[in-house]
Amino acid sequence: MRMSKTQNLTGHASKIQIREREQRLGQRGVTVWFTGLSASGKSTIAGALERRLFDDGHLVYWLDGDNVRTGLNADLGFSAEDRTENIRRIAAAARLFNDAGLLVIAAFISPSSVDRVNACKVIGDDRFHEVYLDAPLEVCEARDPKGLYRKARQGIIPEFTGVSAPYEAPVAPALRLNTATKSINECVEALISLLTDAGALAP
Ligand code: ADX
Repeated sequence: MRMSKTQNLTGHASKIQIREREQRLGQRGVTVWFTGLSASGKSTIAGALERRLFDDGHLVYWLDGDNVRTGLNADLGFSAEDRTENIRRIAAAARLFNDAGLLVIAAFISPSSVDRVNACKVIGDDRFHEVYLDAPLEVCEARDPKGLYRKARQGIIPEFTGVSAPYEAPVAPALRLNTATKSINECVEALISLLTDAGALAP
């Protein structure tokens, strides 16, 4: 994990307890961490879950690969090192949002299991819920909504996950969703059950 470049830092503790924030917001600040291939349905399900949670009265924020990579992580590409740094920064951001009491939906390919373990350490084991968007590569490639798989096969995009760069599937995710066989609604319901069982939707 990346270390601070200076030692001369003193943290300041907030005078507001996390319990106080949870009481006010009627929820617990946890992160639902989606991992899966490009076009596995991460953004579609994340968007639907965010809408549902918001409509149910929750404070929720969805962090997505293509969005974060145009802002916070605009300096990063798709080498293994850059993907690790991408996930490190996102985990740090999710941690801050969770500390503020918000529910976070993080939707990133996050292909490295070590990077996901490190994200879990940053966010906290009790707050981190790993969800595997488990659509087969053939299905993702047939969907190809952005034409990226076609370009990857043609060699126009190098290091493309699932084609020319590795994807390490989670061994024991909190939830596995096969978006080739489950509807968006079924996926959202399963996620709401996960969050309810984890006690995240009540203070
Ligand atoms: S991650 O691997 O670092 O977690 P992230 O989720 O942020 O990736 O970004 C993935 C998105 O970037 C994909 O949905 C796709 O639109 C785009 N992309 C561009 N180049 C690549 C590539 N070489 N591999 C994977 N995704 C890519």
